[in-house]
Amino acid sequence: MDLREDLKQLEQEARALIEQVKNSADLEAARIKYLGRKDGVLTGLMKQMATLSAEEKPKFGASVNQIKNALTELLDRKAAEFDAAAAAHAPREDLTMPGRVPWRGAKHPVTLVIDEICDIFRTLGFSRVRGPEAETEWYNFTALNTPLDHPAADMHDTFYLAPGVLLRSHTSPMQIRTMQQFQPPVRVVVPGMVYRRDPFDASHAPGFEQLEGLAVDEGITFIDFKATLAEFARRLFGPRTKVRFRPSFFPFTEPSAEVDISCTICGGSGCSTCKGTGWVEIMGSGMVDPSVFTHVNYDDERYTGYAFGMGPARIALMLYGISDIRTLYDSDVRFLEQFA
Ligand code: PHE
Repeated sequence: MDLREDLKQLEQEARALIEQVKNSADLEAARIKYLGRKDGVLTGLMKQMATLSAEEKPKFGASVNQIKNALTELLDRKAAEFDAAAAAHAPREDLTMPGRVPWRGAKHPVTLVIDEICDIFRTLGFSRVRGPEAETEWYNFTALNTPLDHPAADMHDTFYLAPGVLLRSHTSPMQIRTMQQFQPPVRVVVPGMVYRRDPFDASHAPGFEQLEGLAVDEGITFIDFKATLAEFARRLFGPRTKVRFRPSFFPFTEPSAEVDISCTICGGSGCSTCKGTGWVEIMGSGMVDPSVFTHVNYDDERYTGYAFGMGPARIALMLYGISDIRTLYDSDVRFLEQFA
């Protein structure tokens, strides 16, 4: 029957044409050509059914339907292939876009200075230790040869937590705790927070970091004391730094000295940082007063030593050329991230 033959030929032609299609626009054209509702080839065939006998009609209809299904399947498969190929080539993410920089924490400038100071003292034989911020009057004053009614205690009027218990006004109590715990030779540096009834202004804060140092051994002299602190100052502030020891008083050191360095901002010619003097004080210090040794049962005939205390925040001001100490406590990331 030639209608059957025609159908077979039509299907073969259609398959061959669809297989050759190279893009989805041509594929859509092929779909319209064969399956289009109005003028599609298969629609045309169905219209011819009217001319067939009642016997032939169902067979013919079934054949046309079978071709329609086969072509639909083929067209869909081709369409899926084109879609997959297009998806594979589409740029999924723009690799040239600048990345989002993740927030990374960094050390606070004062912590950086503390670490640098401790590193210098480590190479000079000092270990780093820590101690409590809540102290007793005995550790903060009495054992440090400071009677509570001594004028030197006024400067250290501080925050009391309970009768006889206070927030330490300096890190010097750690001299006592260290000597109670260890026998000489002792060489320690002790960074930590201290608290005072101080105003909050450009050069003061009621709570601030301090860094204590203590060296005790047989035969330690004033020369060891001076040489060690001068060497420390040159390593921290630079080899051309001049160091000056100015007589001072602390109840727990004798003799006592304030250590000054030539101003790092003006180089010693005088500026607002050094108040025109060319010198900046960086620490209080002195030879350990023998009466302190008696409080910790050290033999004060056998041992001598020196101690010092400095403020890393003030040192940070000089090292980084910062004019107001409060900027170190503001926690403004835009300021702090400059030091990261
Ligand atoms: N503790 C003293 C202060 O805070 C500093 C100091 C420490 C002085 C050690 C001498 C020896 O002012």
